This record gives sequence, structure tokens and C-alpha cells, in this order.
Amino acid sequence: MINLAIFASGNGSNAENITRYFSGNRRIRVVLILSNRKDAFVHTRAQALGIPSRSFCKAEFEEGRPVLDALQAYSVDFIILAGFLLKVSPPILEAYPDRILNIHPALLPKHGGKGMYGDRVHQAVVDAGDTESGITVHYVNEHYDEGTILFQARCQVLPTDSADDVARKVHELEYLHFPKVIEEALLKAFLPRDHEA
Ligand code: GAR
Repeated sequence: MINLAIFASGNGSNAENITRYFSGNRRIRVVLILSNRKDAFVHTRAQALGIPSRSFCKAEFEEGRPVLDALQAYSVDFIILAGFLLKVSPPILEAYPDRILNIHPALLPKHGGKGMYGDRVHQAVVDAGDTESGITVHYVNEHYDEGTILFQARCQVLPTDSADDVARKVHELEYLHFPKVIEEALLKAFLPRDHEA
């Protein structure tokens, strides 16, 4: 089994969608959900899904050890950032080289970097007068939103669209594609022969 941990800071609709997608999968499963916020709605979702969830403060994510202990306790092989707003610290990056994927709700390199998350991104797209937006799934490195891009999908942005309209279109793309992109990446990384067969 390939064991996944999902890091999420808030609502957690992607965390839930990913967990549901892999439930019953014979090779991949979500074993742990982590958050930097105790009051994040993702904990309520985790409880309903029967997945353990924990929260750690920013200092614990930065120091790394308490988080790594939890990841080790659940034999986590791979980490998914799904609406996680802290930068991943060096100890966690070192423990999971090329084993952390993030989703960004825009077409990187546009509208990425520190402070660009959630609705702020969609507002920036509207303010820039962009005619398209989308999602980017990428590996995580020491810089915000700069790791190798694995996948992008696009949606149209109309001149009449509000940030909420863009958010809705982007979320649809996330729910449709992110679990499948994760699955492909994991099968390639962990079961390359099976994947080719
Ligand atoms: C998602 O749209 C995700 O792409 C975005 O936060 C949202 C979380 O929604 N991530 C970022 O902005 C990271 N820079 P969710 O909590 O309902 O899954």
C-alpha cells in the first residue's frame, strides 16, 4: 500500500474529494490529514470520513520533528498539499524528496508566490483581465509555487465573471483532475513496471 498524508489549512473540500477517490483502492490510501489550524473545517470532514487528523502550529511545521514523527507513525510515503498555506520546511522537504505535490488554483507561473492563495488568486485573475485560469499541480520545493509542474488544466474566464465565478470553475477542475494526477504520479514513482504494463 502507498500511504498518503494530506495537508490542508481550511475547508478541505479537496482533501475530502481525494480521500473518497482512493477509498477502496487496492494500492493507494489516505491515512492521515494534517493542518496548521485546530479549527479548520477539514478536521470535521476527516472525522466524518474516518481518517485521523492532527494539527500542528506553524513553529512545529517549521521545526519539522513533531510533524515527521506523526508522518512516520502512519508510515506515510507521500504528501499532498490541498489548500495548505504554509511553506513546507526544509526538514520535511528533506524527508520527502520529490514526494510532495501541491495544487495551485491558477496557471503558474502566473498568480503564484507568497500570499497568493484561495480567493486572492481568483481576484488577481479578475483584476488582471485574464481570459483564462485553471489549475497547476506541481512538485514542492523550497520556494512557494516553483517546483516542477506536472499538470495544468484550463478554464475560460468571461469579462463578466466575479472571483467567486472563477473559484467555482477552478474547483470543478480540481475535483475532476487532482486525484487522477496524484494516482498517475504515485504509480509512476512507486510501481513503474505495473504502470507500463
Ligand atoms: C484550493 O482551491 C487550492 O487550490 C487552493 O486553496 C483551495 C483550498 O480549497 N490552494 C492554494 O491557494 C495554495 N496556494 P479546499 O480547502 O476546499 O480544498
